[in-house]
Amino acid sequence: MKDPKAPIGVFDSGVGGLTVLSALRQALPREDFLYFGDTARVPYGGKPLPMVRRFAWEIAGFLLREGVKAIVVACNTASSAALPELAEDLSVPVFGVLEPVAEEARAYGKVGLIGTQATVGSRAYERYVRLAWARACPLFVPLVEEGLWDDPVALLVARHYLEEAPKDLEALILGCTHYPFLKGAIGKVLPGVRLLDSGEATARRVAEALRREGLLNPEGQGRVVHYVTGDPESYQDLAGRLGVRVEALRRVNLEEL
Ligand code: DGL
Repeated sequence: MKDPKAPIGVFDSGVGGLTVLSALRQALPREDFLYFGDTARVPYGGKPLPMVRRFAWEIAGFLLREGVKAIVVACNTASSAALPELAEDLSVPVFGVLEPVAEEARAYGKVGLIGTQATVGSRAYERYVRLAWARACPLFVPLVEEGLWDDPVALLVARHYLEEAPKDLEALILGCTHYPFLKGAIGKVLPGVRLLDSGEATARRVAEALRREGLLNPEGQGRVVHYVTGDPESYQDLAGRLGVRVEALRRVNLEEL
């Protein structure tokens, strides 16, 4: 029997999933969360899909042992690699980030996608939406993890990847949860293109499903415990620069997974 008072587990390779976490906290202010950033193994995007799938299973298993009532795979790469199998096999509801934002994108005529090499290469988005253009942007995740989202180098890199986009693109799916932090640079290169990120759409899905299944927390405090596999201090510092105050933080050894 799932306990409505249990926290929701959210995971990503690093800080990218914090964009999804913040939308979840807005939509579900009374829920408690465990946020897992696999910072020792970031980035996932250049790694083979079977390896990312294994990481996703390890982290989901860990979160289940910590007692979560639902899991949000706040990573496009891991969602592309491990869903729907993860959702079919686990005993708690599992949510990915692809389908909700793809559904939103279907309202537009000419839709583009940017994401990691693994996500774009997997063609997982094409299950849900017709794409007019897709491009892997492997330098974007390291830029964010290095804290360079506002640096002139971000604009240079955005130009490098995005200047070849079709001029009549209507919407662009930010198919990686790190990319919303680069919206400034991306928007400068593609003015007039609607940038769609997965945070809000995913949060709406999760809220609806928990309500439907009677799993909303009647007395949660909105607490978040962060778990990282890499260096806790640099994570805390980076999260702080991204506007996320980390009040509870635990380092997890990869051997524990
Ligand atoms: N933020 C993740 C994603 O959405 C992971 C990116 C990475 O680690 O390469 O794809």
